[in-house]
Amino acid sequence: MIKKSRFLIWSITLVVIYMVTSCNTSENKTITDSYERKVDSLLSLMTLTEKIGQLNLVGRDGNRNSATQIGPKKANDIRKGLVGNLIGVVGAAPNREVQRIAVEESRLGIPLLFARDVIHGYKTLTPIPLAEAASWDLEAIEKSARIAAIEASASGINWTYAPMVDISRDPRWGRVMEGAGEDPYYGSLVAAARVRGFQGDDLSKENTILACAKHFAGYGSPMAGREYSIIDVSMRELYEVHLPPFEAALNASVGTYMTSFTEVNAVPATVSKFLLTDILREQWNFDGFVVTDWSTITQLMEHGVAADSSSAAVASIKAGVDMDMGSQAFVRNLENLVKEKKVSEKDIDIAVRRILLAKYRLGLFEDPYKYTNPEREKTEVLTPQNREAAREMAQKSMVLLKNENQLLPLSKSLKTVAVIGPVADDPRTHMGRWKAEGERKDVITLLHGLKKKLPNTKFLYAKGVDYDTKDRSGFLEAISVAKQAEVVVLAIGESQKHSGEASSRASIDIPGIQMELVKKLHTLGKPMVVVLYNGRPLTINWINDHIPAILEAWIPGTEGGNAIADILFGDYNPSGKLPITFPYSVGQIPIFYSYKNTGRPDDGSDTKWASKYYDIPNEPLYPFGYGLSYTNFKYSDLKIKKSKVTMSDTITFSMSITNAGKVPGEEVIQVYTRDLLASVTRPVKELKRFKKVLLKPGETKTISFSITANDLKLLNEQLQWITEPGEFQLLIGSSSSDIRLEGKFELIE
Ligand code: BGC
Repeated sequence: MIKKSRFLIWSITLVVIYMVTSCNTSENKTITDSYERKVDSLLSLMTLTEKIGQLNLVGRDGNRNSATQIGPKKANDIRKGLVGNLIGVVGAAPNREVQRIAVEESRLGIPLLFARDVIHGYKTLTPIPLAEAASWDLEAIEKSARIAAIEASASGINWTYAPMVDISRDPRWGRVMEGAGEDPYYGSLVAAARVRGFQGDDLSKENTILACAKHFAGYGSPMAGREYSIIDVSMRELYEVHLPPFEAALNASVGTYMTSFTEVNAVPATVSKFLLTDILREQWNFDGFVVTDWSTITQLMEHGVAADSSSAAVASIKAGVDMDMGSQAFVRNLENLVKEKKVSEKDIDIAVRRILLAKYRLGLFEDPYKYTNPEREKTEVLTPQNREAAREMAQKSMVLLKNENQLLPLSKSLKTVAVIGPVADDPRTHMGRWKAEGERKDVITLLHGLKKKLPNTKFLYAKGVDYDTKDRSGFLEAISVAKQAEVVVLAIGESQKHSGEASSRASIDIPGIQMELVKKLHTLGKPMVVVLYNGRPLTINWINDHIPAILEAWIPGTEGGNAIADILFGDYNPSGKLPITFPYSVGQIPIFYSYKNTGRPDDGSDTKWASKYYDIPNEPLYPFGYGLSYTNFKYSDLKIKKSKVTMSDTITFSMSITNAGKVPGEEVIQVYTRDLLASVTRPVKELKRFKKVLLKPGETKTISFSITANDLKLLNEQLQWITEPGEFQLLIGSSSSDIRLEGKFELIE
């Protein structure tokens, strides 16, 4: 037991260190320099045990309503300096009390980091990240992360495990919901926007939190789409597809990285020196810290690369891991390993230094309680403004997949509408898997949103069927309700259990017997709208063939029902575009727009000897970048300033876009290029720029773009990024397969 008098002496020592170091801070020195000196002073006071404690992150244990959410053993470990960081302890009051234990009752009073998976909102839930990416609105995406940070930081959290920046082209993988889709260029922009949103412009403010780019790297290509499985991607794919968003996060000053459950080049990511040291530290100069994913250190034994938890600890710290999440391998082994000289104290110091630096950057040493302000928790969480922003984000994220004969928007003078399906009034599914502190009672479901929008319309509700069931007993009621209505709105899709971590699916059809009900209802001949809820692309060919209107609502968050009602009744004109391809069949996976031509491309002719399937088309059901509007847009007048440009020149071009319909609308103009002749094979299309433009009916705008030679670089055979001269095709359109304008330019030496 540490005595009170010792606390006092150490507290005074610390205060002296802070005073000395802050007095010595000259105006000219960078803040980081000054923090580094503070870290060094502190480090010199720490015992080996205390250092190792800083590398240790553990979960909460008590229930949410207890005073600290941790049991007496964990509290004692904090006092002894054995735990430096916690995950899952939330709420201003509990976190304040746990922080107090660390600051006032441990020998050196080092504050704790409080982590939480704040993935798409804290209490006010915005749509899942994949849905937000469908907005193609980087400002809105940044704002959404900002709000999440404001709410989380008011409730004790100073570190989120987001953004997940894994690019994925395999919708069987349940975690596609947590990323920005299939494209590395767009994924990089989203990654940076989300980091900026969480971390703000100054990490030491009370409402900004540390972000974490995860899962470093390649986790988005699990073999056979199966969660936690290995990846076997080429170095080319790693550099071209998986690493760019992580580098974009770095350039946005992300504070932390998380390793992944998978392996790269047959080395588990948690012990990949190639990833964690060669790339992250040596090539990228990252000066934040790296945390493992949950228990990945002890999982090295299952991977078959470590005999026991002790050798797993050695391998991971040597590879470049700084913090152990959940496996306790560091705290249990490192002290002995130093004695046995298998790990040097210097190795440990490097990791401790990085973690302490992050704590300084957050301002925790100046005020350890800054994230536990009960007043802010009362006034800044789930505010009407945050709800409004969540509603706007949800509107922007939805994608109109089909709208035959302009069935949508529906008339506000409808008298009776049937609302059918398991999601229609299920708040849990509206929140999704990563619901953080979201609560059912705060969710506006679709049924609720519709009733609020049109109080004088009769909305007849029947659940009809559950997600995963063989029980057809609700069919009759659903059919009878549909018969009484002028229009049927069907809310179907995946439950919150179907997507997210550990929710890979071999079939990406609509689960259970929901389709049976859809088909029965379809025979009634009523106008039908399908509102689709899902965390991943689904194969919905039958729906696409038979149902006139389909709205992709994803997992829309707290305000989801309001946002859908806004779209269905025309108060918001849908503007989302798919950030990921919807396959026609699982057999096409991996499927993505930026594929390569092959030596025998499918040219649409009858030949059997082309790169195609015998039984299904090559084309997806809905391509990347696809999404309809209640209006339509005309593209015209492509002007490329100079058709030949040197490597140091900028390629500038403009085009006109006109809203040719009757209502205001937003279009995402997409600019792709194709490198026509190169030393290595190149994709048929690569997204290079985009712009989301709002146009009044009849309005025309001229939009200019510019790209540089750097945007056209390729990875040569030696895996070096170079730019080659030659001709490029410019393809501008409304989706990756709806190209409206084409041109060419040449890059010359
Ligand atoms: C997930 C991470 C997450 C961590 C902590 C893991 O299982 O892979 O993405 O941040 O748990 O909750």
